[in-house]
Amino acid sequence: MATAKSPVYNLNNGIEMPAIGLGVFRSEPEKTVGAVRSAIAKGYRLVDTAAAYMNEEQVGEGIRESGVPRAEIFVTTKVWMTDYGYEKTLHAFDRSLRKLGLDSLDLYLIHWPYPSAFEATIDAYKAAMKLLAEGRVRAIGVSNFGANHLDKLIEHTGHIPAVNQVELHPFFIQSGLREANEKRGIITQAWSPIGGINRDGAKANTSKAMHDPLSHPTVVQFATKYAKTPAQIILRWQIELGTSPIPKSVRPERIAENFDIFDFSLTSDEVQAISALDTGERGGPDPEQVSAQSFPITNLD
Ligand SMILES: NC(=O)c1ccc[n+]([C@@H]2O[C@H](COP(=O)([O-])OP(=O)(O)OC[C@H]3O[C@@H](n4cnc5c(N)ncnc54)[C@H](OP(=O)(O)O)[C@@H]3O)[C@@H](O)[C@H]2O)c1
Repeated sequence: MATAKSPVYNLNNGIEMPAIGLGVFRSEPEKTVGAVRSAIAKGYRLVDTAAAYMNEEQVGEGIRESGVPRAEIFVTTKVWMTDYGYEKTLHAFDRSLRKLGLDSLDLYLIHWPYPSAFEATIDAYKAAMKLLAEGRVRAIGVSNFGANHLDKLIEHTGHIPAVNQVELHPFFIQSGLREANEKRGIITQAWSPIGGINRDGAKANTSKAMHDPLSHPTVVQFATKYAKTPAQIILRWQIELGTSPIPKSVRPERIAENFDIFDFSLTSDEVQAISALDTGERGGPDPEQVSAQSFPITNLD
């Protein structure tokens, strides 16, 4: 199982990024080292963390313990909103590298647009541009940006992000934003690619609880047809769309399962049938509404 290699996407500055990666949001620190080690052993070559996930140390440790050379692994982290601003972001980058135990990074993302403090968001990106120019990071990008945020950022910096990482799963397929990214030469990376936000997010277990795409009959039907699991069907759908899924798991068997998607493909009708499950309703926060106060994250030192 899971012996294939991940395909890669070419970012707009010529850097190659593995198409699929391991996400570690909500991975408890004590489980993160093992998850990263196990993912790398199964063939993953991309790990997605963030300063705000509080597990950068464990990601670094898992990478070192994997025995795979650092240069073969694509490491992403993100600057949190409380660190926006030029000098603060430079400092936050140093802190992230120190925690990861790395001397350079592959991808640095601006974690959210901060609409009511967009100047600081732009300054954070300008700091990332300096890090890129110095060769301390190989590519830079954004996360949770709408087309309006992208345009404002590009207008003020003259630089096009390599990646926009956004909520994207069969119940929230982001057609418009995927197209906007593509038009600008930006790779769309999918967070909650198998709908984790609907099971684990703030709306789970409330009267606004969202459906779980893993148990949708359309997905289950294709899983039966291809003798794959619902998660594998959805992750394969992501690859067919040209998005970069970063599924999270701390369980070795699921980590292996989520990577084992390169020995089959979906027909274009099947891709369309999954895309037709879109509800237009996001499970996570609305990027237009977020601010540092929206999240219970204060001290990242
Ligand atoms: N940029 C952002 O603002 C942002 C926001 C959210 C997430 N992200 C990134 O995206 C990554 C993935 O998103 P996510 O963690 O929200 O959701 P997800 O990857 O769609 O789903 C993760 C959830 O599904 C479970 N799971 C994993 N594989 C499974 C399988 N094969 N079958 C059944 N259940 C499975 C996991 O539990 P177990 O661990 O118990 O297996 C976990 O509860 C994050 O880890 C993070 O790196 C970024």
